[in-house]
Amino acid sequence: MHQRAQFTLKLFYTNPKISRVSKSFYVTTPIFYVNDAPHIGHAYTEVASDVLTRWHRARGENSYLLTGTDEHGEKVLRTALGNNTDPKSWTDKLVTESWLPLLETIDIDNQDFIRTTEPRHEKAVQQFLQKLYDTGFIYQGSFQGNYCVGCEEYKNESDLIDGSGDFADQKVCAIHSKPVEQLNETNYFFKLSDFQERLLKHYEDNPTFIQPESAKNEVISFVRSGLSDLSISRSKERFDWGIDIPWDDQHITYVWFDALLNYITAIGYGSDEAKLNSLWPADVQVVGKDILRFHAVIWPAMLMAAGLPPAKQVFGHGWLLVGGEKMSKSKLTGIAPTQITDIFGSDAFRYYFMKAIGFGSDGSFSWEDLSARYNSELANGFGNLASRVIAMINKYFDGVVPAPAEYLEADLAIQKVAQDAVAGANSAIDKVAIHEAIAKVWTLVDELNNYITVQAPWVLAKDEADRDRLATVLYTTAEGLRLLAVLLSPVTPKATQKLWNSIGTSLGELSEQRIQQGEWGVLPAGTKLGELEVLFPRVEEQ
Ligand code: MSP
Repeated sequence: MHQRAQFTLKLFYTNPKISRVSKSFYVTTPIFYVNDAPHIGHAYTEVASDVLTRWHRARGENSYLLTGTDEHGEKVLRTALGNNTDPKSWTDKLVTESWLPLLETIDIDNQDFIRTTEPRHEKAVQQFLQKLYDTGFIYQGSFQGNYCVGCEEYKNESDLIDGSGDFADQKVCAIHSKPVEQLNETNYFFKLSDFQERLLKHYEDNPTFIQPESAKNEVISFVRSGLSDLSISRSKERFDWGIDIPWDDQHITYVWFDALLNYITAIGYGSDEAKLNSLWPADVQVVGKDILRFHAVIWPAMLMAAGLPPAKQVFGHGWLLVGGEKMSKSKLTGIAPTQITDIFGSDAFRYYFMKAIGFGSDGSFSWEDLSARYNSELANGFGNLASRVIAMINKYFDGVVPAPAEYLEADLAIQKVAQDAVAGANSAIDKVAIHEAIAKVWTLVDELNNYITVQAPWVLAKDEADRDRLATVLYTTAEGLRLLAVLLSPVTPKATQKLWNSIGTSLGELSEQRIQQGEWGVLPAGTKLGELEVLFPRVEEQ
């Protein structure tokens, strides 16, 4: 799927007339370690980034989503060796068999997919390193300290907690609950400490650079407490699965320094300035809170050192928890996304995680909650609304959308709800409050359902004198459905496409519709409805 999109975008960027248009809305996901197959925590980041990108596109912006895989480093290497293979074969297999298929499973419309083992990335990382070395931001030194291979991160004593079970009496990584390793190496350092003041000023001048607020305060106090220089290379004596340091072939690049650069190497850093300028700075970089410091401290400092602006915003979302802890494969708590999509479909997956968990907060997944929301909100709330309205237009008006007569108070109230839903959802999206945007749209689903109950079209249909009133009521509901198809297309693209096939094709493709001010009366009276495929089929109790 992403390949088709990539092709379209290539055409777009090589057209000189179009490439002068305003900057695209650029969203990035973290790139995923390919030490294992994805679980729903990874899919969560992807879906949020995709909903955001699709929403901006539906508002008429050029939007661009980048995702990919983080393939170097000790963690991936050890996993490959542990599986009796080499890291290249291991990563090729996992990317092809697990990570690219994930995008299909949860219906991600990404414009590019970067692998850090691709030549386009490796070459540009070396250019970036050389630039920082030449300008004095990188120097040689020696490193002694703790390293967590699970996090691929250097750890201070204060980052460690007391271990338990097998690791009682030892200090362990707070995220992986495993002991850290002692490193004692000569390697290269990035002068991160030089950027403390500039970073603090950047946070102050750009109050929404780090979101949500709680995450921002944590990063600021971390930076205020002082920054140490960062070791950015690893000796080949220890392991050799990474990008060579360009001026010293005995060292490879620290995996995070390599990985963070994907956000610009994928869009032309060092090779295509026009493309880079049309996308960078990224508008929103979506990351989990565990990797916020890398993105809100190290990454902007790297960019500043290279003379590039930091992203406009880094959003640190919460974790999917199991038993109060971050879901993870290493703790054997990972649930594969297909376990959910095979039963409920990709739309339900996307809707559930975006609606049920406040974006920015932690949340727990439960089959009961998913199933209850699927039935009450998707199948009965939205799906049933669509099928009832279309069935009534078929029955009372031979499948042709009637022209409304005079709008009464109840009809105008629906129009107001629609207008408020669009305005509220749009402003929620501007704050990356995805759950809030969907909740606003749902006010229209709920109000349309109430409206049908109160207006009772089946009663109006009994009396020829109420024909005009029946037409107005059914036009109101059909127009409401049109608006819902457009508003929900970023969240539930498959169901809204089915709905569009029935009611909207006279207006063009669903992808050409714009989420604007919630104008009323866009659906032409006289539209002949097509058949409606069931939006959310019944799921058998298991
Ligand atoms: N490779 C690094 C990121 C490099 S970005 C330049 C990495 N990879 S990861 O595969 O471990 O995690 C990728 C993303 O998945 C992170 O944003 C992480 O927060 C997210 N999640 C992993 N487990 C998660 C949950 N249980 N819940 C929500 N998100 C989770 O870190």
